[in-house]
Amino acid sequence: MHNHDNTSPDRAMTLLVQLSDPHIREPGKLAYGRIHTAPYLAQAVDSIGRLPQRPDAIVITGDLTDFGRAAEYEHLQSLLAPLGDMPLYLLPGNHDERQQLRASFPSHTYLGTDGFVQYSVPIGGLQLVTLDTVTPGASEGSLCQQRLDWLEAELDRQRHKPVVIAMHHPPFQTLIGHMDRIGLLTGAQELESIVARYPNVERVICGHLHRSIQVRFGGTIAATIPSPAHQVCLDLAPDAASAWTLEPPGYALHALPTGGRLVSHLAASGTFEGPFPFHEGGKLID
Ligand SMILES: [Fe+2]
Repeated sequence: MHNHDNTSPDRAMTLLVQLSDPHIREPGKLAYGRIHTAPYLAQAVDSIGRLPQRPDAIVITGDLTDFGRAAEYEHLQSLLAPLGDMPLYLLPGNHDERQQLRASFPSHTYLGTDGFVQYSVPIGGLQLVTLDTVTPGASEGSLCQQRLDWLEAELDRQRHKPVVIAMHHPPFQTLIGHMDRIGLLTGAQELESIVARYPNVERVICGHLHRSIQVRFGGTIAATIPSPAHQVCLDLAPDAASAWTLEPPGYALHALPTGGRLVSHLAASGTFEGPFPFHEGGKLID
């Protein structure tokens, strides 16, 4: 039986799903002339709906759309509708447009009305704190003093609680040359020294890379996750071509047991054969 009671005060854990980089286009339009990203997002949403434990919330770490257009956000909204009343948090990536995002999701008041899209919300036993790494009109990201100061003040307020920081551009080198050239080019070192002062930061969760990558960062773990659609090719040659592939898509399930440490699982989205038992009659099947 599935326990969908997330309101009980003695529940064992907080579950946060992270999706990233769905790159939704207008209905019927292909991304890069080749891929229908919408069915891929629908598949991820379906996978999330079939998780044995119902997540407390979902955060999408940017590149919600491909060009930040109203028709793309409208399409995104309809693809996310099956999530029902599961709390949904959005943040912009370099393919998004802040003001259009706000205009398209007016009920998402945490997005604010102007300036950077940075917010802090409680999700069960953890605090989700987001950073806006977007530089309008550019693919690379940045964190200016204003954004970093806001983070530091917020981390100070939340210093007695487990914190997950979410942002689009990862604050570390990935060794995928063409992606590092459009990485977080300003503010990564400053961010690391802030994070290092708050040992309650359980994770820094990011997107942008369309791959699963983990790096030690400021005394915690910073990580990127796959896209629910297309992935960036795994090629560490500095001059590797900027290209994508249809490797298996996925998302992350971050689980915080009460009083414990954050455990991050990478989940494949899709339908797969199984489950099958390991044992029969109390013995390992031979
Ligand atoms: Fe992306």
